[in-house]
Amino acid sequence: MAPTPVITGIGASLPPRVVTNDDLARQLDTTDEWIRTRTGISRRHVVQPGTTTSDLAVEAGARALKNAGTSDADLVVLATTTPDRPCPATAPTVAARLGLGTVPAFDVAAVCSGFVYALYTATAALVAGQARTALVVGAESFTTLLNPRDRTTAAIFGDGAGAVVLSARPDAADPKQAGILHFDLGSDGTLADLITVPGGGAEQRTSAREPEPDAQYFQMDGRAVFSAAVRRMSDSTRAALGASGWSVEQVDWLVGHQANVRILTAVAEQLDLPPEKALIHLDRVGNTSAASIPLALADGCLRGRLKAGDRVVLTAFGGGATWGSATLVWPDLPPVENPTTAP
Ligand code: UT7
Repeated sequence: MAPTPVITGIGASLPPRVVTNDDLARQLDTTDEWIRTRTGISRRHVVQPGTTTSDLAVEAGARALKNAGTSDADLVVLATTTPDRPCPATAPTVAARLGLGTVPAFDVAAVCSGFVYALYTATAALVAGQARTALVVGAESFTTLLNPRDRTTAAIFGDGAGAVVLSARPDAADPKQAGILHFDLGSDGTLADLITVPGGGAEQRTSAREPEPDAQYFQMDGRAVFSAAVRRMSDSTRAALGASGWSVEQVDWLVGHQANVRILTAVAEQLDLPPEKALIHLDRVGNTSAASIPLALADGCLRGRLKAGDRVVLTAFGGGATWGSATLVWPDLPPVENPTTAP
């Protein structure tokens, strides 16, 4: 019988610099009130010059391995939109710096859905018997992509990393036993322009035209993304619940991509799920793209909200457009030692 992947360790990393909404309001035409009421965000962590995505990924990864009580993994999958360089991928650097040797290591690019895609990839490798322990990381220095003059994006995003160790355990008949259960993933490439960094890729390099001004910066059609995110996250969550044979009433926690508290509330409403079952972490870290779900999970552990045996559904929507959901029964993990936000 195929093994069931189970989370055996979790870790997080946040850069120490905290930027509050009031700090942003001193540089941009915005207010604390607008940001809080439109997004639910109060502050975010931001990398200092010299700190890279791999630095955050290595710290989160080391903490996840320690939490799992191991120093080994035979696969590293890193979800990121902000790799250290366009080439090569960042995951091999992370694997080497963690002392994992010559294990397979690669990046997954699905923007804010990246962690769910990375978890899916690692789960598939474990189920196929190609790996026994995988380190799955979501890490971003997303603020390095932002146009500092664009209040519509500069107010929303933050930096950080979260990681889980995924281990194969022989399958057991008990459906209440911890483990990753089912996925629902999708994409719609006709929506590629909704969330984009138009410059810096082959498209621009092979174009005879001069790049548009600010083409190197992240751009988003916020309103269109908002409605697509609510629809896709709700439908995908339903599909993952259906595949697991779970009713909405059986869900203990909805851990959605932390983009906007209004999106998370709307998804809960669409699903007829009490809003207090939606785990919220973005108020203290903003939207950390591929890092947001593992950061929210680590915070849920630290605060004693996620408990062994809880039925959890992850759901995300991001650039591509991509979306994805996963059902899992939460494992019994050692306490998370490191803070998941500033005091
Ligand atoms: O992570 C990947 C997925 N991303 C998401 O899921 C993000 C989805 N989108 C959103 O969360 C929301 O659309 C935003 C938070 C980005 C924007 O909120 P909104 O309620 O949709 O605002 P809006 O874009 O409709 O803009 C409303 C007004 C506009 O002014 P006018 O045209 O009505 O005069 C904006 O210029 O708010 C203005 N505005 C701001 N005002 C103060 C936009 N950003 C700001 C700001 N401060 N930071």
